[in-house]
Amino acid sequence: MAKACAQSHGQAEQLVIHQDDIKEEEETLDESGDPLEESGRTVDSSDEEVEDSVAEDMARFEESFIGINKKYRLINRIGEGTFSTVYKAEDLQYDDFQNRWDIDERENTKWSSPSHRRRQSKSRPRYVAIKKIYVTSSPIRIFNELELLHDLKNSESVCPLITAFRHLDQVVAILPYFQHRDFREYFRDMTVSDIRLYFRSLFTALRSVHAKRILHRDIKPTNFLYNPQQARGVLVDFGLAEREGTDWHQCACTLSTEERRYRISHSVYAATLNSGNQHSSYPKTDTRSSRRANRAGTRGFRAPEVLLKCTQQNTSIDMWSAGVILFTLLSRRFPFFHSADDIDALLEITSIFGRKKMREISLLHGQVFETNIPSYSDGGHSLEKIILWCTGRSQKDEKTGKKIELQDEEKEAVQFLYRLMECDPAKRITAEEALRHSFIAKAFEESEGDEDMVDLI
Ligand SMILES: Nc1ncnc2c1ncn2[C@@H]1O[C@H](COP(=O)(O)OP(=O)(O)OP(=O)(O)O)[C@@H](O)[C@H]1O
Ligand SMILES: [Mg+2]
Ligand SMILES: [Zn+2]
Repeated sequence: MAKACAQSHGQAEQLVIHQDDIKEEEETLDESGDPLEESGRTVDSSDEEVEDSVAEDMARFEESFIGINKKYRLINRIGEGTFSTVYKAEDLQYDDFQNRWDIDERENTKWSSPSHRRRQSKSRPRYVAIKKIYVTSSPIRIFNELELLHDLKNSESVCPLITAFRHLDQVVAILPYFQHRDFREYFRDMTVSDIRLYFRSLFTALRSVHAKRILHRDIKPTNFLYNPQQARGVLVDFGLAEREGTDWHQCACTLSTEERRYRISHSVYAATLNSGNQHSSYPKTDTRSSRRANRAGTRGFRAPEVLLKCTQQNTSIDMWSAGVILFTLLSRRFPFFHSADDIDALLEITSIFGRKKMREISLLHGQVFETNIPSYSDGGHSLEKIILWCTGRSQKDEKTGKKIELQDEEKEAVQFLYRLMECDPAKRITAEEALRHSFIAKAFEESEGDEDMVDLI
């Protein structure tokens, strides 16, 4: 029997969810969160002033979850998401267990003497993040998140699951607390070198997640906790993650080009076009079953194939979302996309890539794309031009009268961005390849240079 249990806390209660307990539930497939709403609710972790309402909420939680206050001392509420509330807490039983999850301790061990370590380990409080998953979440979803986190426990740059507890219908996941800064505080000031370091860390996490053929599905700044000072980040929130191949039905994108062409030429769409209609019309009684696909994710970060309901989505959807983060950083606009729904989101992508590309990628997944909005061009705009426009550099230089261009470093970043925001998922760069791409590889060279300097000192 499959079970989700995290054992790094030794004899601590294990969370074992029996299959019998899992009731089939109608899962809603559209799980969108608004990127602004989302990011607005993260409390600065260094700010430990507790508001009255938060103190009341923590007291209620301690009262209802019997025994939790023996293990952890709640400090503050640090996140309030769509599916959970996250608290920062001190681990009161840290010294009773092996703590392989503690990255700081591992790094300390490398550099300090044993006596210094002993002194430090007794005096320093150890923090965890307690993720209280809302009881309204389906048991399948909770089980899925914990099981995937358990599978990813040794994955580089992924926030590991320490343990999990259940009291009645309430499940909590215990994660190491990771010191990070709110994306909105630093994204405007990042230099190209900082951007490289950010993505080196994010792609390291994605490489390890994708190596296990797991799709995160919700890559966005609030789910990648980044510490700019240490140039280190961890990926969190596997609430929407799934294994590749879950619920797959054949999609035209996996057919050979010839086969796909044949299908298109024999489709209802082709028949209506052949009957002399310039624009495709819609059959009065359409007998085809409606198409269902997982569209979970956050508005503005969804890949085109997710919006087009591709039924064989794979790990490359996360690479598109990472591309949206890079676009945000280069254009200094957050959130970059801000759509009301999936159709709006497709139109936002159309305004960049143009109608021709949208028609092509829609057909790739067996869909027809049409719009009668006249302002969209066929060829779209270059990403360079959009970045120049967003950063107020679209006018000509006053002195030289010449067009302003991106700096060389930015141009290299844009070349990399094209590889991430590639509309055809089969051509999109993978996390493994991204880490070898010259844009990211420079981050390794730059940090080696820094280490040489440290050695010299
Ligand atoms: N290990 C951690 N260390 C520090 N902060 C954390 C940690 N895990 C989560 N948080 C904070 O809590 C927030 C919400 O966590 P998470 O994304 O896992 O929950 P969620 O309810 O699924 O979120 P959402 O619906 O907002 O995506 C994060 O954005 C982060 O600010
Ligand atoms: Mg989240
Ligand atoms: Zn497809």
